[in-house]
Amino acid sequence: MARIGQADAERPVGKGARMVHGPAEDRGVGDRRMAGGAAADAVAAVSEGRLWDRLMAMARIGGFTTEEGHEGVNRPCLTPLDREARRLLIGWAQAAGASVSVDPAANLFLRWEGADPSLAPVLTGSHMDTQPQGGRFDGIYGVLAGLEAIEAMAASGVRPQRPVEVVAWTNEEGGRFAPGCTGSMSFAGFKPMSAFDDLVDAEGVRYADALAAQLAEEADLPRRPLGYVPHAYVEAHIEQGPRLEAEGQDIGVVTGIQGSRWFTVTVEGRTDHAGTTPLSLRKDAVQDALRAIAALNALMHDPTDVLRFTVGSIAVEPGTSNSVARRVVFTIDFRHPDEAVLRPRGDAIAGVVQAALKACTARVHERFTAWPADFGPTVPEAVARAAASQGLKAIRLPSGAFHDAQFLVPVCPTGMIFIPCRGGVSHHPSEYAEPRACANGARVLTEAVLELAGGP
Ligand code: GLV
Ligand code: MN
Ligand code: MN
Repeated sequence: MARIGQADAERPVGKGARMVHGPAEDRGVGDRRMAGGAAADAVAAVSEGRLWDRLMAMARIGGFTTEEGHEGVNRPCLTPLDREARRLLIGWAQAAGASVSVDPAANLFLRWEGADPSLAPVLTGSHMDTQPQGGRFDGIYGVLAGLEAIEAMAASGVRPQRPVEVVAWTNEEGGRFAPGCTGSMSFAGFKPMSAFDDLVDAEGVRYADALAAQLAEEADLPRRPLGYVPHAYVEAHIEQGPRLEAEGQDIGVVTGIQGSRWFTVTVEGRTDHAGTTPLSLRKDAVQDALRAIAALNALMHDPTDVLRFTVGSIAVEPGTSNSVARRVVFTIDFRHPDEAVLRPRGDAIAGVVQAALKACTARVHERFTAWPADFGPTVPEAVARAAASQGLKAIRLPSGAFHDAQFLVPVCPTGMIFIPCRGGVSHHPSEYAEPRACANGARVLTEAVLELAGGP
Protein backbone atom coordinates (compact mmCIF):
# COMPACT_ATOMS: atom_id res chain seq x y z
CA MET A 1 0.00 0.00 0.00
CA ALA A 2 1.24 3.45 -0.79
CA ARG A 3 2.28 5.70 1.99
CA ILE A 4 -0.70 7.83 2.90
CA GLY A 5 -0.81 11.49 2.19
CA GLN A 6 2.83 11.74 1.19
CA ALA A 7 2.40 13.21 -2.27
CA ASP A 8 -0.34 15.48 -1.01
CA ALA A 9 1.29 16.68 2.14
CA GLU A 10 2.64 19.94 0.78
CA ARG A 11 -0.11 20.67 -1.74
CA PRO A 12 -2.14 23.69 -0.68
CA VAL A 13 -5.87 23.68 -1.26
CA GLY A 14 -8.38 26.42 -1.14
CA LYS A 15 -8.46 29.35 -3.53
CA GLY A 16 -7.15 28.31 -6.91
CA ALA A 17 -6.82 24.65 -5.96
CA ARG A 18 -7.00 22.14 -8.79
CA MET A 19 -9.99 19.82 -8.58
CA VAL A 20 -9.21 16.12 -8.55
CA HIS A 21 -11.99 13.80 -9.61
CA GLY A 22 -12.51 10.46 -7.96
CA PRO A 23 -12.71 7.00 -9.48
CA ALA A 24 -15.89 6.04 -11.30
CA GLU A 25 -17.44 4.33 -8.31
CA ASP A 26 -16.97 7.46 -6.26
CA ARG A 27 -18.65 9.79 -8.72
CA GLY A 28 -22.05 10.95 -7.71
CA VAL A 29 -21.29 10.91 -3.99
CA GLY A 30 -20.92 14.64 -3.88
CA ASP A 31 -22.11 15.52 -7.33
CA ARG A 32 -24.63 18.20 -6.37
CA ARG A 33 -22.48 21.11 -5.33
CA MET A 34 -23.83 23.50 -2.74
CA ALA A 35 -22.41 26.75 -3.97
CA GLY A 36 -24.63 29.34 -2.37
CA GLY A 37 -28.28 29.81 -1.41
CA ALA A 38 -29.45 27.30 1.17
CA ALA A 39 -25.94 26.04 1.89
CA ALA A 40 -24.75 29.58 2.52
CA ASP A 41 -27.72 30.15 4.83
CA ALA A 42 -26.91 27.02 6.80
CA VAL A 43 -23.22 27.94 7.04
CA ALA A 44 -24.22 31.41 8.26
CA ALA A 45 -26.42 29.82 10.94
CA VAL A 46 -23.47 28.05 12.58
CA SER A 47 -23.05 29.74 15.96
CA GLU A 48 -19.56 30.16 17.35
CA GLY A 49 -20.97 31.12 20.76
CA ARG A 50 -23.33 28.14 21.04
CA LEU A 51 -20.63 25.70 19.95
CA TRP A 52 -18.14 27.17 22.44
CA ASP A 53 -20.65 27.21 25.31
CA ARG A 54 -21.45 23.56 24.63
CA LEU A 55 -17.79 22.58 24.52
CA MET A 56 -17.29 24.27 27.90
CA ALA A 57 -20.45 22.69 29.34
CA MET A 58 -19.24 19.25 28.27
CA ALA A 59 -15.79 20.01 29.73
CA ARG A 60 -17.38 20.36 33.17
CA ILE A 61 -18.45 16.69 33.05
CA GLY A 62 -15.30 15.00 34.28
CA GLY A 63 -13.46 18.32 34.41
CA PHE A 64 -10.49 18.98 36.71
CA THR A 65 -7.94 21.77 37.16
CA THR A 66 -4.23 21.01 37.36
CA GLU A 67 -1.76 22.72 39.68
CA GLU A 68 -0.59 24.74 36.68
CA GLY A 69 -4.18 25.93 36.10
CA HIS A 70 -4.97 23.81 33.04
CA GLU A 71 -8.57 22.63 32.76
CA GLY A 72 -8.51 18.99 31.76
CA VAL A 73 -11.18 16.35 31.39
CA ASN A 74 -11.22 12.75 32.60
CA ARG A 75 -14.37 11.16 31.17
CA PRO A 76 -13.86 7.43 30.62
CA CYS A 77 -16.26 5.56 28.36
CA LEU A 78 -19.22 3.58 29.71
CA THR A 79 -19.21 5.38 33.09
CA PRO A 80 -21.79 7.59 34.83
CA LEU A 81 -19.85 10.64 33.54
CA ASP A 82 -20.09 9.34 29.97
CA ARG A 83 -23.82 8.82 30.42
CA GLU A 84 -24.24 12.33 31.88
CA ALA A 85 -22.49 13.82 28.85
CA ARG A 86 -24.62 11.74 26.49
CA ARG A 87 -27.84 12.91 28.23
CA LEU A 88 -26.75 16.52 27.81
CA LEU A 89 -26.07 15.91 24.12
CA ILE A 90 -29.38 14.12 23.65
CA GLY A 91 -31.31 17.03 25.21
CA TRP A 92 -29.69 19.51 22.82
CA ALA A 93 -30.24 17.24 19.81
CA GLN A 94 -33.91 16.64 20.55
CA ALA A 95 -34.50 20.35 21.07
CA ALA A 96 -32.97 20.92 17.62
CA GLY A 97 -35.38 18.42 16.05
CA ALA A 98 -33.07 15.40 15.72
CA SER A 99 -34.16 11.88 16.61
CA VAL A 100 -31.95 9.80 18.89
CA SER A 101 -31.09 6.09 18.89
CA VAL A 102 -28.44 3.73 20.23
CA ASP A 103 -26.95 0.60 18.66
CA PRO A 104 -25.85 -2.58 20.49
CA ALA A 105 -22.27 -1.24 20.77
CA ALA A 106 -23.70 1.85 22.57
CA ASN A 107 -22.81 4.07 19.62
CA LEU A 108 -25.22 7.01 19.91
CA PHE A 109 -26.88 8.47 16.78
CA LEU A 110 -28.61 11.85 16.27
CA ARG A 111 -30.58 11.91 13.02
CA TRP A 112 -31.64 14.95 10.99
CA GLU A 113 -34.16 13.60 8.53
CA GLY A 114 -33.59 14.04 4.80
CA ALA A 115 -36.13 14.85 2.12
CA ASP A 116 -35.88 11.17 1.16
CA PRO A 117 -35.58 9.13 4.36
CA SER A 118 -34.96 5.96 2.33
CA LEU A 119 -31.55 7.22 1.15
CA ALA A 120 -28.35 6.24 2.97
CA PRO A 121 -27.40 8.98 5.45
CA VAL A 122 -24.27 11.07 5.47
CA LEU A 123 -22.60 10.25 8.78
CA THR A 124 -20.47 12.61 10.84
CA GLY A 125 -19.31 12.62 14.47
CA SER A 126 -16.46 11.49 16.71
CA HIS A 127 -16.16 10.33 20.33
CA MET A 128 -17.01 11.66 23.80
CA ASP A 129 -14.57 9.69 25.97
CA THR A 130 -11.21 11.17 26.95
CA GLN A 131 -7.78 10.09 28.06
CA PRO A 132 -7.35 10.04 31.88
CA GLN A 133 -5.35 13.27 31.61
CA GLY A 134 -7.32 14.47 28.62
CA GLY A 135 -8.42 17.81 27.28
CA ARG A 136 -11.64 19.62 26.38
CA PHE A 137 -11.60 19.12 22.61
CA ASP A 138 -10.30 15.71 21.52
CA GLY A 139 -13.37 13.83 20.30
CA ILE A 140 -16.17 15.90 21.77
CA TYR A 141 -15.39 18.68 19.28
CA GLY A 142 -16.35 16.46 16.33
CA VAL A 143 -19.62 15.41 17.97
CA LEU A 144 -20.61 18.99 18.83
CA ALA A 145 -19.54 20.28 15.40
CA GLY A 146 -21.88 17.65 13.90
CA LEU A 147 -24.68 18.77 16.20
CA GLU A 148 -23.93 22.37 15.19
CA ALA A 149 -24.45 21.32 11.54
CA ILE A 150 -27.89 19.99 12.54
CA GLU A 151 -28.64 23.20 14.45
CA ALA A 152 -27.63 25.22 11.42
CA MET A 153 -29.84 23.18 9.09
CA ALA A 154 -32.73 23.49 11.53
CA ALA A 155 -32.31 27.25 11.94
CA SER A 156 -32.07 27.88 8.19
CA GLY A 157 -34.82 25.42 7.21
CA VAL A 158 -32.43 23.30 5.15
CA ARG A 159 -33.58 19.79 4.41
CA PRO A 160 -30.97 17.89 2.35
CA GLN A 161 -31.96 14.98 0.15
CA ARG A 162 -30.24 12.49 2.40
CA PRO A 163 -30.56 12.16 6.15
CA VAL A 164 -27.61 13.45 8.15
CA GLU A 165 -26.60 11.44 11.20
CA VAL A 166 -24.22 12.49 13.97
CA VAL A 167 -22.59 9.61 15.82
CA ALA A 168 -20.80 9.49 19.18
CA TRP A 169 -18.65 6.36 18.92
CA THR A 170 -18.09 4.23 22.02
CA ASN A 171 -14.58 3.96 23.49
CA GLU A 172 -12.39 5.62 20.89
CA GLU A 173 -9.57 6.42 23.30
CA GLY A 174 -8.96 3.00 24.77
CA GLY A 175 -8.10 4.83 28.00
CA ARG A 176 -10.37 2.65 30.14
CA PHE A 177 -10.69 -0.41 27.90
CA ALA A 178 -7.74 -0.91 25.54
CA PRO A 179 -7.71 -1.00 22.60
CA GLY A 180 -9.74 1.97 21.48
CA CYS A 181 -12.21 2.34 18.59
CA THR A 182 -14.25 -0.63 19.77
CA GLY A 183 -17.52 1.12 18.84
CA SER A 184 -16.47 1.98 15.29
CA MET A 185 -14.74 -1.39 14.77
CA SER A 186 -17.97 -3.14 15.76
CA PHE A 187 -20.08 -0.86 13.55
CA ALA A 188 -17.84 -1.38 10.53
CA GLY A 189 -17.64 -5.14 10.98
CA PHE A 190 -13.89 -4.97 11.48
CA LYS A 191 -14.34 -7.35 14.42
CA PRO A 192 -17.43 -8.93 15.97
CA MET A 193 -18.62 -7.10 19.09
CA SER A 194 -17.92 -10.22 21.14
CA ALA A 195 -14.20 -9.82 20.38
CA PHE A 196 -14.14 -7.06 23.02
CA ASP A 197 -16.23 -8.76 25.72
CA ASP A 198 -13.28 -9.82 27.88
CA LEU A 199 -11.32 -6.56 27.87
CA VAL A 200 -10.95 -5.43 31.47
CA ASP A 201 -10.36 -2.02 32.98
CA ALA A 202 -7.96 -1.26 35.83
CA GLU A 203 -10.58 -2.38 38.36
CA GLY A 204 -11.18 -5.69 36.57
CA VAL A 205 -14.58 -4.67 35.12
CA ARG A 206 -15.30 -6.49 31.84
CA TYR A 207 -16.14 -4.47 28.75
CA ALA A 208 -19.22 -6.63 28.13
CA ASP A 209 -20.54 -5.81 31.61
CA ALA A 210 -19.85 -2.08 31.31
CA LEU A 211 -21.56 -2.07 27.91
CA ALA A 212 -24.60 -3.93 29.28
CA ALA A 213 -24.82 -1.45 32.17
CA GLN A 214 -24.74 1.49 29.76
CA LEU A 215 -27.44 -0.01 27.55
CA ALA A 216 -29.59 -0.73 30.62
CA GLU A 217 -29.25 2.89 31.79
CA GLU A 218 -30.30 4.02 28.32
CA ALA A 219 -33.18 1.55 27.95
CA ASP A 220 -35.54 4.47 27.30
CA LEU A 221 -33.72 5.36 24.07
CA PRO A 222 -34.82 3.78 20.78
CA ARG A 223 -32.55 0.96 19.60
CA ARG A 224 -31.16 0.48 16.12
CA PRO A 225 -29.28 -2.47 14.62
CA LEU A 226 -25.49 -2.49 14.52
CA GLY A 227 -23.94 -1.04 11.38
CA TYR A 228 -25.09 0.16 7.97
CA VAL A 229 -23.43 1.53 4.86
CA PRO A 230 -23.46 5.33 5.10
CA HIS A 231 -23.33 7.38 1.91
CA ALA A 232 -20.17 9.02 3.28
CA TYR A 233 -18.46 9.65 6.63
CA VAL A 234 -16.73 12.89 7.60
CA GLU A 235 -15.25 13.56 11.05
CA ALA A 236 -14.12 16.91 12.44
CA HIS A 237 -11.28 16.87 15.00
CA ILE A 238 -8.53 19.01 16.45
CA GLU A 239 -5.28 18.36 14.55
CA GLN A 240 -3.34 17.05 17.57
CA GLY A 241 -0.19 18.17 15.79
CA PRO A 242 1.52 21.53 15.27
CA ARG A 243 1.32 22.10 11.51
CA LEU A 244 -1.88 24.09 11.02
CA GLU A 245 -1.06 26.56 13.77
CA ALA A 246 2.60 26.89 12.76
CA GLU A 247 1.68 27.49 9.11
CA GLY A 248 -1.20 29.87 9.83
CA GLN A 249 -3.78 27.55 8.27
CA ASP A 250 -7.47 27.41 9.20
CA ILE A 251 -8.36 23.93 8.02
CA GLY A 252 -6.61 20.63 7.47
CA VAL A 253 -8.01 18.51 4.66
CA VAL A 254 -7.01 15.10 5.95
CA THR A 255 -5.70 12.72 3.30
CA GLY A 256 -5.52 9.57 5.43
CA ILE A 257 -4.35 8.10 8.73
CA GLN A 258 -1.07 6.39 9.48
CA GLY A 259 -1.18 2.77 10.61
CA SER A 260 -0.95 1.71 14.26
CA ARG A 261 -0.06 -1.59 15.93
CA TRP A 262 -0.38 -2.09 19.67
CA PHE A 263 1.39 -4.91 21.50
CA THR A 264 1.51 -6.11 25.09
CA VAL A 265 4.76 -7.77 26.19
CA THR A 266 4.73 -9.92 29.32
CA VAL A 267 8.16 -10.80 30.71
CA GLU A 268 8.08 -13.64 33.24
CA GLY A 269 10.90 -14.09 35.76
CA ARG A 270 11.06 -15.13 39.41
CA THR A 271 10.75 -13.04 42.53
CA ASP A 272 13.66 -13.25 45.00
CA HIS A 273 15.17 -11.40 47.91
CA ALA A 274 16.97 -8.26 46.68
CA GLY A 275 19.58 -8.44 49.42
CA THR A 276 20.53 -12.08 49.35
CA THR A 277 20.13 -13.40 45.79
CA PRO A 278 23.34 -13.15 43.68
CA LEU A 279 22.75 -11.42 40.34
CA SER A 280 23.95 -14.52 38.51
CA LEU A 281 21.10 -16.59 39.96
CA ARG A 282 18.26 -14.16 39.28
CA LYS A 283 15.47 -14.22 36.76
CA ASP A 284 14.89 -10.49 37.00
CA ALA A 285 11.94 -9.45 34.84
CA VAL A 286 12.81 -5.72 35.04
CA GLN A 287 16.34 -6.27 33.75
CA ASP A 288 15.14 -8.43 30.85
CA ALA A 289 12.34 -5.97 30.04
CA LEU A 290 14.98 -3.21 29.85
CA ARG A 291 17.08 -5.37 27.51
CA ALA A 292 14.01 -5.99 25.36
CA ILE A 293 13.11 -2.29 25.20
CA ALA A 294 16.71 -1.38 24.27
CA ALA A 295 16.65 -3.95 21.46
CA LEU A 296 13.28 -2.64 20.27
CA ASN A 297 14.66 0.91 20.17
CA ALA A 298 17.35 -0.39 17.82
CA LEU A 299 14.74 -2.18 15.67
CA MET A 300 12.67 1.00 15.47
CA HIS A 301 15.56 3.33 14.71
CA ASP A 302 14.48 5.73 11.96
CA PRO A 303 16.84 8.51 10.88
CA THR A 304 13.95 10.21 9.06
CA ASP A 305 11.97 10.52 12.35
CA VAL A 306 8.73 9.42 10.69
CA LEU A 307 8.30 6.22 12.67
CA ARG A 308 6.58 6.45 16.08
CA PHE A 309 7.53 3.96 18.81
CA THR A 310 6.23 4.37 22.36
CA VAL A 311 6.46 2.26 25.51
CA GLY A 312 3.80 4.14 27.46
CA SER A 313 3.04 1.77 30.31
CA ILE A 314 5.22 -0.54 32.40
CA ALA A 315 3.74 -2.58 35.24
CA VAL A 316 6.06 -4.41 37.64
CA GLU A 317 5.11 -7.26 40.02
CA PRO A 318 5.41 -7.50 42.92
CA GLY A 319 6.68 -3.93 42.67
CA THR A 320 8.57 -3.46 45.93
CA SER A 321 12.08 -2.05 46.45
CA ASN A 322 13.49 -5.16 48.03
CA SER A 323 12.07 -7.84 45.72
CA VAL A 324 13.44 -8.96 42.37
CA ALA A 325 10.63 -8.49 39.85
CA ARG A 326 8.64 -11.61 39.00
CA ARG A 327 6.74 -10.11 36.07
CA VAL A 328 6.84 -7.00 33.90
CA VAL A 329 4.07 -6.09 31.46
CA PHE A 330 4.81 -3.28 29.05
CA THR A 331 2.92 -1.84 26.11
CA ILE A 332 4.12 -0.92 22.63
CA ASP A 333 2.41 1.66 20.42
CA PHE A 334 4.07 1.48 16.99
CA ARG A 335 2.93 3.68 14.09
CA HIS A 336 4.00 4.40 10.54
CA PRO A 337 2.25 5.78 7.46
CA ASP A 338 3.78 3.12 5.19
CA GLU A 339 2.52 -0.44 5.46
CA ALA A 340 5.83 -1.61 3.95
CA VAL A 341 7.50 -0.43 7.18
CA LEU A 342 4.68 -1.09 9.64
CA ARG A 343 4.22 -4.72 8.65
CA PRO A 344 7.78 -6.13 8.73
CA ARG A 345 9.00 -4.16 11.75
CA GLY A 346 5.86 -4.97 13.70
CA ASP A 347 6.18 -8.62 12.76
CA ALA A 348 9.81 -8.56 13.98
CA ILE A 349 8.93 -7.38 17.49
CA ALA A 350 8.32 -10.84 18.99
CA GLY A 351 11.64 -12.22 17.72
CA VAL A 352 13.61 -9.18 18.85
CA VAL A 353 12.12 -9.42 22.35
CA GLN A 354 12.93 -13.15 22.61
CA ALA A 355 16.51 -12.63 21.42
CA ALA A 356 17.12 -9.89 23.99
CA LEU A 357 16.18 -11.93 27.07
CA LYS A 358 18.92 -13.24 29.35
CA ALA A 359 17.08 -15.22 32.05
CA CYS A 360 13.32 -14.77 31.62
CA THR A 361 10.66 -15.83 29.15
CA ALA A 362 8.28 -13.47 27.31
CA ARG A 363 4.95 -13.47 25.50
CA VAL A 364 4.09 -10.85 22.89
CA HIS A 365 0.44 -10.21 22.12
CA GLU A 366 -0.79 -7.88 19.37
CA ARG A 367 -4.01 -6.32 20.56
CA PHE A 368 -4.76 -3.60 18.02
CA THR A 369 -3.99 -3.31 14.34
CA ALA A 370 -5.04 -0.47 12.08
CA TRP A 371 -3.32 -0.43 8.70
CA PRO A 372 -2.64 2.92 7.04
CA ALA A 373 -5.87 4.33 5.61
CA ASP A 374 -6.03 6.45 2.46
CA PHE A 375 -9.17 8.58 2.24
CA GLY A 376 -9.13 8.80 -1.56
CA PRO A 377 -10.55 11.86 -3.27
CA THR A 378 -14.29 12.06 -2.60
CA VAL A 379 -14.70 13.40 0.92
CA PRO A 380 -11.40 15.33 1.03
CA GLU A 381 -12.43 17.15 -2.15
CA ALA A 382 -15.80 18.07 -0.64
CA VAL A 383 -13.97 19.39 2.44
CA ALA A 384 -11.48 21.32 0.28
CA ARG A 385 -14.31 22.88 -1.75
CA ALA A 386 -16.12 23.93 1.41
CA ALA A 387 -12.99 25.53 2.85
CA ALA A 388 -12.30 27.32 -0.44
CA SER A 389 -15.86 28.62 -0.79
CA GLN A 390 -15.62 30.07 2.72
CA GLY A 391 -12.28 31.74 1.99
CA LEU A 392 -10.44 29.68 4.60
CA LYS A 393 -6.78 28.75 4.25
CA ALA A 394 -6.38 24.98 4.02
CA ILE A 395 -3.68 22.39 3.45
CA ARG A 396 -3.80 18.65 2.94
CA LEU A 397 -2.14 16.55 5.60
CA PRO A 398 -2.21 13.02 6.97
CA SER A 399 -3.22 12.17 10.55
CA GLY A 400 -0.66 10.82 13.00
CA ALA A 401 -3.35 10.00 15.57
CA PHE A 402 -5.77 7.19 14.84
CA HIS A 403 -9.46 7.92 14.63
CA ASP A 404 -12.74 6.08 14.23
CA ALA A 405 -12.68 7.29 10.62
CA GLN A 406 -9.93 4.73 9.96
CA PHE A 407 -12.43 1.90 10.28
CA LEU A 408 -15.03 3.54 8.05
CA VAL A 409 -12.67 3.61 5.05
CA PRO A 410 -13.58 0.11 3.78
CA VAL A 411 -17.28 0.87 4.32
CA CYS A 412 -17.90 4.19 2.53
CA PRO A 413 -16.14 7.30 1.19
CA THR A 414 -14.51 8.79 4.27
CA GLY A 415 -12.59 11.89 5.29
CA MET A 416 -11.73 14.23 8.14
CA ILE A 417 -11.50 17.94 8.84
CA PHE A 418 -8.76 19.18 11.16
CA ILE A 419 -8.71 22.50 12.99
CA PRO A 420 -5.58 24.01 14.59
CA CYS A 421 -4.91 23.40 18.28
CA ARG A 422 -2.46 25.34 20.43
CA GLY A 423 1.08 24.04 20.15
CA GLY A 424 -0.27 20.85 18.60
CA VAL A 425 -0.86 19.60 22.15
CA SER A 426 -3.47 16.94 22.91
CA HIS A 427 -3.98 14.09 25.40
CA HIS A 428 -3.07 16.74 27.96
CA PRO A 429 -5.16 19.10 30.12
CA SER A 430 -3.69 22.13 28.32
CA GLU A 431 -5.20 21.06 24.99
CA TYR A 432 -6.86 24.16 23.45
CA ALA A 433 -8.53 25.28 20.24
CA GLU A 434 -9.68 28.86 19.66
CA PRO A 435 -13.46 29.46 19.52
CA ARG A 436 -13.02 30.88 16.01
CA ALA A 437 -11.12 27.77 14.88
CA CYS A 438 -13.87 25.55 16.28
CA ALA A 439 -16.50 27.54 14.40
CA ASN A 440 -14.48 27.48 11.15
CA GLY A 441 -14.37 23.69 11.32
CA ALA A 442 -18.11 23.46 12.03
CA ARG A 443 -18.89 25.70 9.05
CA VAL A 444 -16.72 23.62 6.73
CA LEU A 445 -18.31 20.47 8.12
CA THR A 446 -21.81 21.88 7.54
CA GLU A 447 -21.09 22.77 3.92
CA ALA A 448 -19.28 19.49 3.17
CA VAL A 449 -22.05 17.44 4.78
CA LEU A 450 -24.69 19.31 2.79
CA GLU A 451 -22.83 18.74 -0.46
CA LEU A 452 -22.43 15.05 0.31
CA ALA A 453 -26.09 14.82 1.36
CA GLY A 454 -27.23 16.14 -1.99
CA GLY A 455 -28.29 19.60 -0.94
CA PRO A 456 -31.82 20.80 -0.26
C1 GLV B 1 -5.93 8.32 19.49
O1 GLV B 1 -6.31 8.94 20.47
C2 GLV B 1 -4.56 7.99 19.26
O2 GLV B 1 -3.88 7.52 20.20
O3 GLV B 1 -4.08 8.21 18.15
MN1 MN C 1 -9.91 11.79 19.26
MN1 MN D 1 -7.42 10.97 21.67
